Amino acid sequence: LDTLPPLQLAQRYFTLFPQQREPLWQNPCDDKRHRDIWSKEKTCDRLPKFLVIGPQKTGTTALSLFLLMHPSISSSFPGPRTYGEVQFFNTNNYLQGIDWYMELFPLPSNVTSDFLFEKSSAYFPSEDAPRRAAALLPKAKILTMLINPSDRAYNWYQHQKAHEDSTASRFSFYDVISAQHGAPADIRSLQNRCLTPGLYHTHLERWLTHYPVNQLVVLDGQQLRRDPAAVMDEVQKFLGVTPHYNYSQTLTFDQQKGFWCQLSEEGKTKCLWSEGQKYPPMEPEARSYLSRYYREHNIDLSKLLHRLGQPLPSWLREELQKIS
Ligand code: A3P
Repeated sequence: LDTLPPLQLAQRYFTLFPQQREPLWQNPCDDKRHRDIWSKEKTCDRLPKFLVIGPQKTGTTALSLFLLMHPSISSSFPGPRTYGEVQFFNTNNYLQGIDWYMELFPLPSNVTSDFLFEKSSAYFPSEDAPRRAAALLPKAKILTMLINPSDRAYNWYQHQKAHEDSTASRFSFYDVISAQHGAPADIRSLQNRCLTPGLYHTHLERWLTHYPVNQLVVLDGQQLRRDPAAVMDEVQKFLGVTPHYNYSQTLTFDQQKGFWCQLSEEGKTKCLWSEGQKYPPMEPEARSYLSRYYREHNIDLSKLLHRLGQPLPSWLREELQKIS
């Protein structure tokens, strides 16, 4: 038997198995050997039963607000940094370990009927998130919300501009999306963050290499905006959460905001702050550029949704009609 002092042995080991340099957390209660050494003070119940993975600007905050109206659904506490999102599986927060993660969740009062969740909209396009999430939460349901990727890109750009991103403030939307290889690094980086999450098919395939198809649902963000009660019915069915909550009685359309809002028992409305109304519609030139840009990806997405037996959202049918 060949051996070495501990530090050299570790170095040798990680040279042989570089993919193991980073931990891959699993649920300690899923393995007897881990359970046996897991502190009696700790629990494995403070883990989410489902994740809302994004992508950003598709209506995921509204979905979270509506989910929280359900009496059996609770979310994580706000994460310490990233705009209240936990962003565990896609960032260095992951290296803080599972205690760090679990402490961001309340203790469920009834483990069977309570549903904990977290919404981190940067999980969707993340290379790491699906593998890491599936290792810790193999039974979790995964909710993703899609709108037309061209609209998503435009809303995202406007969001950056409203938050005074210096590149978004200096360059028009069209400049950003159409920047070519030789363009300055800051535009290329903004372009990448603007357009890449819209490659829906690629990201979904990555999630599906780690989760079975029946644990993933693709929701239509445009439908959530138009008819949230119908989407929330679909979500409740998919999650298997009880009791059935009647959203058509507790959501109200606010004419001034142009959005559906929560109606409290006292008759007050709670709406989300939204930038949507404040920016002009996308220029036709940018829209046709993006329709071409996303063309093949949208075709692949439609094939994927067929395979999953999930309906095509209306925006996707419209994009496909532009092609034929
Ligand atoms: P804008 O802010 O550009 O209008 P996310 O929370 O995933 O980042 O998505 C934000 C988008 O959700 C908003 O984009 C808005 O269009 C959309 N949305 C859908 N339903 C909404 C609702 N009931 N209230 C507020 N925004 C809603």
